[in-house]
Amino acid sequence: MQPSWQKEAIIYQIYPRSFQDSNGDGVGDLRGILQRLDYLQALGVTVLWLSPIFASPNADNGYDVSDYRAIQPEFGTMRDFDELLAEAHARGLKIILDLVVNHSSDEHEWFRESRKSKDNPFRDFYVWKPAKSASLIPSEGIKPATNVLARDEVDDEYFPNNWQSLFGGSAWKWDEATGEFYLHLFVEKQPDLNWENPRLRREVYDLMRFWLDKGVDGFRLDVVPFFSKALTFPDYPPERFADLSAYANGPRIHEFLREMHDEVWSNYDALNVGEGVGVRAEDANLYVGESRRELQMLYHFDHAVPRDEARFLDPAPEFSLVQMKQITRRWDEALGDDGWQSVYFGNHDNPRMLSRFGDPVRFPYESATMLATVLLTLRGTPSLYQGDEIGMTNCPFEAVNEFDDVQVRNAYDALVRRGGGDEAQFLVAANRIARDHARTPFQWDDSPNAGFSTGRPWLKVNPNFGQGVNAAAEETAPKSILNFYRNLIELRKRTPALAYGHYRDVRPDDNAVWLYEREWKGETWVIACNFTGETQEVELEGEVRFGNYTTGATSATLRPYESRVAFQKKANS
Ligand code: NOJ
Repeated sequence: MQPSWQKEAIIYQIYPRSFQDSNGDGVGDLRGILQRLDYLQALGVTVLWLSPIFASPNADNGYDVSDYRAIQPEFGTMRDFDELLAEAHARGLKIILDLVVNHSSDEHEWFRESRKSKDNPFRDFYVWKPAKSASLIPSEGIKPATNVLARDEVDDEYFPNNWQSLFGGSAWKWDEATGEFYLHLFVEKQPDLNWENPRLRREVYDLMRFWLDKGVDGFRLDVVPFFSKALTFPDYPPERFADLSAYANGPRIHEFLREMHDEVWSNYDALNVGEGVGVRAEDANLYVGESRRELQMLYHFDHAVPRDEARFLDPAPEFSLVQMKQITRRWDEALGDDGWQSVYFGNHDNPRMLSRFGDPVRFPYESATMLATVLLTLRGTPSLYQGDEIGMTNCPFEAVNEFDDVQVRNAYDALVRRGGGDEAQFLVAANRIARDHARTPFQWDDSPNAGFSTGRPWLKVNPNFGQGVNAAAEETAPKSILNFYRNLIELRKRTPALAYGHYRDVRPDDNAVWLYEREWKGETWVIACNFTGETQEVELEGEVRFGNYTTGATSATLRPYESRVAFQKKANS
């Protein structure tokens, strides 16, 4: 295990649209981030991960890029970006960008060209297939238009296979100009790029170098396991579509990642983290094993909220603590001393971690700080999500039209509008699982719109900003989640054992207390976290160095959502 700054990093994810608006148009922007760099520096995080900032028509809020070398005009200009990068670096903060190259926008120049004709030089930048039924394939002398079917008429028998988009409906879209289908694993405005094409791959490596040469410190790689497709394009049994691994880990993925490493990563001291969608723990080291020379780390989906379409009427129960421990052990053991991961409880694709695993009503401070304790004392590079450090929670959405996310809108159309499902039931489910909960504007203070914008915010602001859930209140509150994060981050940064130490789950079957050790070079740290609103008895050795209750931390009783970090020097080590 080679120590590295990447392993010791503390990542903070910014969703630029929702972080800080500087010009009153209701949309967060780069100058807004610039204004808040002091806040981020004071928090102590070391790497800022910016969700996509590239030009995009926003079919999926920037995860549909129309120009990988241009800044989204709503977010500012390249000069703003250069200034942000320079100012971040001046404060010792690194910046990584979100590389979304499994697919582009259908408005990207490559796709505009690709769809023009079958012999266009960019045709093979995307995945095109003829209809299954031969009668639909335009033949010599027949204008494609005569074969064109309206979208609703292109039913299952014509699709090249039965693949489903992760955001609902077929993953194939009929394109009239050339009478073929293109693949889109996400929405139809996100055509999948064809990684089989070496020219496409070279373009991707070039654009990566463009940003790295500018001084950017690395990338998070969006849905990286999907880059290589199963080239036989087999039909899958329908139940597989709820399983994110259906499209992951294609036959050439490791070849592509090794090539990317050799072409790009090997020339920069940068950080890369793969979105490990569909990667099983036992296969993780194929991606991140040190000797593989592919990626440095990835983050898994085993505790992500299942959000396939049907869940919008019938959400899965939340993971129990015992399940969370099993997942943690499984990954920790699989990675061993060879691989590395990034750990997280919240990101822009999941509801708020405090609403999922804590008790924001009765114990907001205790449960938010307890969760922070776990996040920052597990083995792996922690990734914090904006707003979690001030205790932001899921937002009460009162009507379906208050949601923005394309996934919610598609699910609503399929399940309620067309499927006749119950609207009230849908609303309850979306209020549990929608991604919008993580995307509501950052709550800076108790002024209008929580200080996020002087204009009309693009997405509802959670009304609890007026009840103390905001950064300004957290600055001054006697018991402050924000200050707890600052202190804990400082502890983590000066304690290599918390970054590298071996993980041992002391009570795997305990569904109330997460008790584990981190052992490194003769030092043992013992972490005890109560995941309930009741007191729990626990044997805790060592000297308590940190915790979320200021007094009485010596007894064997953990109070509601109490967390403790204790130090122990083992005689025999
Ligand atoms: C994963 C991203 O995290 C998610 O937000 C996005 O919708 C999909 N990839 C498509 O890019």
